[in-house]
Amino acid sequence: MTILATRLDTGGDEYADHRAVMLEKLDALAVEHAKALAGGGPRYVDRHRARGKLTARERIELLVDQDSPFLELSPLAAWGSDHPVGASLVTGIGVIEGTECVITANDPTVRGGSSNPWTLRKALRANEIALHNRLPLVNLVESGGADLPSQKEIFIPGGALFRDLTRLSAAGIPTIAVVFGNSTAGGAYVPGMSDHTVLVRERAKVFLGGPPLVKMATGEEADEERLGGADMHARTSGLADHVAEDEPDACRIARRIVHRLHWRREGPRPDIAAAPPKYDEEELLGIVPGDLRVPFDPREVIARLVDGSDFDEFKPLYGPSLATGWATLHGYPVGILANAQGVLFSAESQKAAQFIQLANQRDIPLVFLHNTTGYMVGESYEQGGIIKHGAMMINAVSNSRVPHLSVLMGASYGAGHYGMCGRAYEPRFLFAWPSAKSAVMGPQQLAGVLSIVARQSAAAKGTPYDEDADAAIRAMVEQQIEAESLPAFLSGRLYDDGVIDPRDTRTVLGMCLSAVHSGPVEGARGYGVFRM
Ligand code: COA
Repeated sequence: MTILATRLDTGGDEYADHRAVMLEKLDALAVEHAKALAGGGPRYVDRHRARGKLTARERIELLVDQDSPFLELSPLAAWGSDHPVGASLVTGIGVIEGTECVITANDPTVRGGSSNPWTLRKALRANEIALHNRLPLVNLVESGGADLPSQKEIFIPGGALFRDLTRLSAAGIPTIAVVFGNSTAGGAYVPGMSDHTVLVRERAKVFLGGPPLVKMATGEEADEERLGGADMHARTSGLADHVAEDEPDACRIARRIVHRLHWRREGPRPDIAAAPPKYDEEELLGIVPGDLRVPFDPREVIARLVDGSDFDEFKPLYGPSLATGWATLHGYPVGILANAQGVLFSAESQKAAQFIQLANQRDIPLVFLHNTTGYMVGESYEQGGIIKHGAMMINAVSNSRVPHLSVLMGASYGAGHYGMCGRAYEPRFLFAWPSAKSAVMGPQQLAGVLSIVARQSAAAKGTPYDEDADAAIRAMVEQQIEAESLPAFLSGRLYDDGVIDPRDTRTVLGMCLSAVHSGPVEGARGYGVFRM
């Protein structure tokens, strides 16, 4: 039997405790998510509506198939920065006329929809997702261009936005721009570089320079409509392929454009008869302990994610601190790597490297479920070659070419974050649970290391060591590292694609698997040299 059994005692105190902590964290995150939904706040939203305009999310709703889900990405972008949560841009994956697309929409209620450094990161991430997964890209445009006070951080790197549009097009990935309002200066290159354009009559304004700038540059008195209106661009400049009568009409036309792409997926289809897990997804709330030093069995998570809770474990007796095995998720075959006891030893690393190679030979996507404090340190482990073995695993992850999906359930520390396909290893998607923490090491360990180094430095100089100051610094550092390792902070910096409710994990992974199969799913046939 390969159906996973459960030992989760859903009536017990432990489960109740874990669940209560997780729900508390979810409540706190809901408050932050609400900030992104509120956009620029009631004053700007009301003004926007009074102008007869729809909000960014309403535009997306009209664009996607009725009642279809929209996987919003990085709603907490810019969290903890000087810019509003959400980064004045909504991005995600939605289904238009049966075709999964990457959709972005400027939020014009936040500083005129202008782009700050976080908006840029979020937009570039959306472009990357479109490119890596071969998904058509639809940009819903209404933006005051660069956020002028932070221009120094976006002007030069921001050129990548337009570069990406042409590269997507060159890769045969369709790009569609629907312009609802202002799209000035650099913004004009969004429709300028897109394969298909729709401009809303008497609303879209697409020009390199608006009337004041033209006046300054050439002395010409210009009228906005004649300079960059939809009608002018449709009849005279040729920039507009379609003129929409109003916003719903623009969404309708964009849907027709996607329909006429006749988009064909290149990855294999899933088995649609796949069974749901045998255990309730609700129970995912009660697995991860509030204290991440307490281990938990990731098979309890796997049992609530995969089809029929059916998991063929690979090498269960070897390297038991990492569970590896095969399953299907919403009918898509996957290989899963899940940390079982936190630490990665040599055996776990070698097992991971072999497993990843197998998945590549069979063209099977990989799911990484993180709860690791990193690779084991200490004399016997160093002598046993932990560096070589960790390097093998990281090599296997780096050169693997099947799609990777990562979920940070608990700890994701040190090089363990890398070996388990952290952000820098380009998983196609990476999500965190509210219980996750990620940093170079745990806060206590980091503060302790700093203290030892400072003590040694004082001894070397022959100066006395201030123990009181040490305790205060340790506490401060611990607090800082703790705050910097939390999901909202990391999500704010775009180090993941969002913080998700554990109960949604199967759905989110299913949507991601569907998205990655828009492109071909092919493993690597060659590898870098493994240090044996
Ligand atoms: N950078 C920074 N802040 C901006 C901004 C920008 N590019 N564009 C608008 N804002 C701010 C405004 O100062 C205003 O702030 P406030 O409410 O605190 O005073 C807020 O965003 C809303 O702008 P407002 O002009 O009231 O909104 P609007 O909907 O009437 O007009 C624009 C929107 C985009 C048409 C208009 O703001 C504009 O022309 N902005 C400058 C566009 C530009 O030239 N950008 C340079 C591109 S490189």
